[in-house]
Formats: sequence, C-alpha cells, structure tokens
Amino acid sequence: MSKVGAEAILSPNNHRYGIPTMARFTDTLIQDHRDCDHAFSQAESLLNAGLRDEAIEAFDLFVSRTELHFAREEEVLFPEFERATGQAAGPTMVMRSEHVRIRELYREMAACLRNGDDAGFLGLGETLFIMLQQHNGKEEQILYPMSDQVLAHRQADLLDKLTFAVG
Ligand SMILES: [Fe+2]
Repeated sequence: MSKVGAEAILSPNNHRYGIPTMARFTDTLIQDHRDCDHAFSQAESLLNAGLRDEAIEAFDLFVSRTELHFAREEEVLFPEFERATGQAAGPTMVMRSEHVRIRELYREMAACLRNGDDAGFLGLGETLFIMLQQHNGKEEQILYPMSDQVLAHRQADLLDKLTFAVG
C-alpha cells in the first residue's frame, strides 16, 4: 500500500482522499435506529401472520434494543453534547422528552400484545412508527451532524464509550 493510502486509512477523520477512514460514533447510533426499526416491523409482521409468541419475542427485542440505544444517547451522547455546546435546554431536552413519550407508547403496546389486544397493539404501533420516524429523522439530520462537529476531537473515545460502557 502506498504511504498516502496508508495515511488516509489510518488517520481518523481524514476525508482528503474521500475514503471513510474510521466509523463516526454517530454511525453506531444510526445503525441502532435501523436495528430497532427492523425488530419493530418484524413484530408487526409476525403478529399479522398469527405468530403471537414470535411476535412477542421480536417486540421484546425491539424494546431491549431501543432501551440500549436510549441509554447510549442519554448517558453518553447527550451529556457530552451539552458539555461541548453549553446547551442543556436545546435539542437534547427535546429528544429526552420524546424518549419519555416513546417509552410510554411501547410499554402500552407490550401490555396489549400480552393481553391479546391485537387491534390495540397495531393501532398504537402506527402512532409509534410515525413518532420514531420523526424522532430519528431529527437526530440523524440535526443532532448527530452537530455532535460530529462539536465532538470531532473525541470520536475514538466516544465510540469506545458507546460500544463498551453501556449495555
Ligand atoms: Fe436515537
């Protein structure tokens, strides 16, 4: 490998050559969103197919993945963002309050599923789906890019914290 090529690959955040050299810590959070979406749609599909036990299992997976993701944000990303920007009442406050509403909804859905209230589960699921799309969109289009900027110098450290310190 040429020296220039090696430097490009080994140097974090070096986009001079258009080569993605190191995963951004926000990539972990974006992947979490995709994993959660997948488990959520699996639960709905399985229930629609009449596979209740499997639907419960898939929904439990959605809940545990979402809890892990929220912990990564609430315990690592948000405090770091707030420290770096001095903004405790900015976008992270909005995201935290949306997490509260999202948690309430999926707890209600889990109860519906266990009580055999399929219509209740699927109805609340439509609300939760829209809420998650809007919430995740704001994070991916606004909060994560801002975090990548203000926390650029701490990418490796934050990636470690997200991967190992939580869950
Ligand atoms: Fe998120």
